[in-house]
Amino acid sequence: MGRVKGSAQSSKSVWPVYLFLEELEKMAQEFDESLKGLEQSVIADMKRVYSEKTIDHFLNPRNLGEIPTPDGFARVTGPCGDTMEICLKVRDGRVMDASFWTDGCGPSIASGSMVTEMAKRMSISEAQKISQRDVLAALGGLPEESEHCALLAADTLKEAIKNYLAFKDEPWKRAYMR
Ligand code: FES
Repeated sequence: MGRVKGSAQSSKSVWPVYLFLEELEKMAQEFDESLKGLEQSVIADMKRVYSEKTIDHFLNPRNLGEIPTPDGFARVTGPCGDTMEICLKVRDGRVMDASFWTDGCGPSIASGSMVTEMAKRMSISEAQKISQRDVLAALGGLPEESEHCALLAADTLKEAIKNYLAFKDEPWKRAYMR
C-alpha cells in the first residue's frame, strides 16, 4: 500500500492553535503599547502649545451634540470657513442646558465645549456678556493664531441668545422658520 510521503512530518509542522493565539495576543499587546506611545507623544506635543484645560476640553468635549427643540439656536461660520452651532434650553430666563457642534479645529472644539459650560445655569443677560476674552481666560489662553476660534464660540452663543430672545414671546413662530 502506498504511503503518503512526508505525512508524519507535515502533521508535526502544523502550528498548534494555542501558539498562534499567543502570538496574536503578543502582537496585539505590542500594537497597544506603540499606540499608547504615539498618543503620549501627540499629547506631549500638544502640551507645548496648549494649556491643560484646552487639551482636556478638546479631548473630552462637554455638551457636544444637539438639544431637541431648542429655545435658542445659531449656526455661525467664521472667516476661517469653520462653522459652529449652539443650542440652548432656557427656563425662567436662565440657560438650563447648552450644546454645541463644530466642524472646526481642536481649539474650536475646546472653545465650544468651554463656552457652553460657562453659559449653563447663567441668566440670559449674564450669558450674553460672555466674550472671546472670557473664553480665552477660561481655557488658559490659546496661541495667537487660534484666538479667533474662541471668538467663533462667543459669537455663536450670542447669536443663539438673540435667536431665543426673538422667539421668546411667540415660540410658535419657530414652526414657520425655514
Ligand atoms: Fe477655524 Fe479654529 S481654525 S475655528
